[in-house]
Amino acid sequence: MEIRKYWLPSLIFGMGLALSIFSCQHEPITIEGDNNPVDTTGNNPIDTTGNNPTDTTTTGIPCDPNVVYFELDVLPILRSNCAKSGCHDENSAQDGVILTSFESVMATGKIEPFDLNDSEIYEVIVETDPDKRMPQPPNAPLTSAQINLVASWILQGAKNESCDPAAEGCNTDNVSYSADIRPVIENNCLGCHQGANPTGGFVLETYADVVAKVNSGRFYGAVAWEPGFVPMPFGASAPLPQCNLNKIKAWIEAGAPNN
Ligand code: HEC
Repeated sequence: MEIRKYWLPSLIFGMGLALSIFSCQHEPITIEGDNNPVDTTGNNPIDTTGNNPTDTTTTGIPCDPNVVYFELDVLPILRSNCAKSGCHDENSAQDGVILTSFESVMATGKIEPFDLNDSEIYEVIVETDPDKRMPQPPNAPLTSAQINLVASWILQGAKNESCDPAAEGCNTDNVSYSADIRPVIENNCLGCHQGANPTGGFVLETYADVVAKVNSGRFYGAVAWEPGFVPMPFGASAPLPQCNLNKIKAWIEAGAPNN
């Protein structure tokens, strides 16, 4: 009875396992020794949901702290500081430069992989002459941390590598405003929500600015793309990484402390 019920799934699973072991000889991702391939949960051993711990094809690739990732690190800076209406979004395309996606950045951003001196985007963000600097005054220049991210990305070959920020778990204990929340706002929001004439009509420059928006009840719904809110970051094709959202939520639930 038991055997009759399971022989077919077992056979298919066995073949899949054999195949994956062979193919893994050439793959950088290997099956960890502690991942027991025998499913003891009683679930179908052929798991297509991605929840099966032995399924290495859908397991997230942890982010390498030494790699600068385009979507995670560079695009948010370009989107909020450069791809604004009137500047380098699809409609405005000043000087033919569109900085809204990897494809448009590579096609129009005059980037020479591995070479800062030949990458115009780098030259204009470090330019000291205010007539030539980007973002143009009265917009603030990029911070040195942001310039370093763009520079490292170019020096690493201006690639579009991806990783899973939650692959190694997402720790939402004791979320800190200065260490966890502030950097997300700086890289994803501040380019628009700062200065004398901020996009959206308000700034997120100081802790007090952010808390005022949290207390208005409009902050989390906007970043979580909840119905009834304008999704933020404005113009993004996807919300912030889930781990960032979890941290923002935990921080708000803890009373949005200035820690
Ligand atoms: C590219 C510019 C841009 C970026 C980047 C951006 N915003 Fe906005 N934001 C806007 C604009 C424009 C509006 C007003 C939208 C409207 O009212 O139609 C707005 C509105 C908002 C609102 C009010 C939304 C509502 O439904 O009441 C919040 C909150 C907000 N932004 C927070 C953020 C946060 C947090 C980030 C970063 C994660 C961010 N914004 C990134 C341009 C931007």
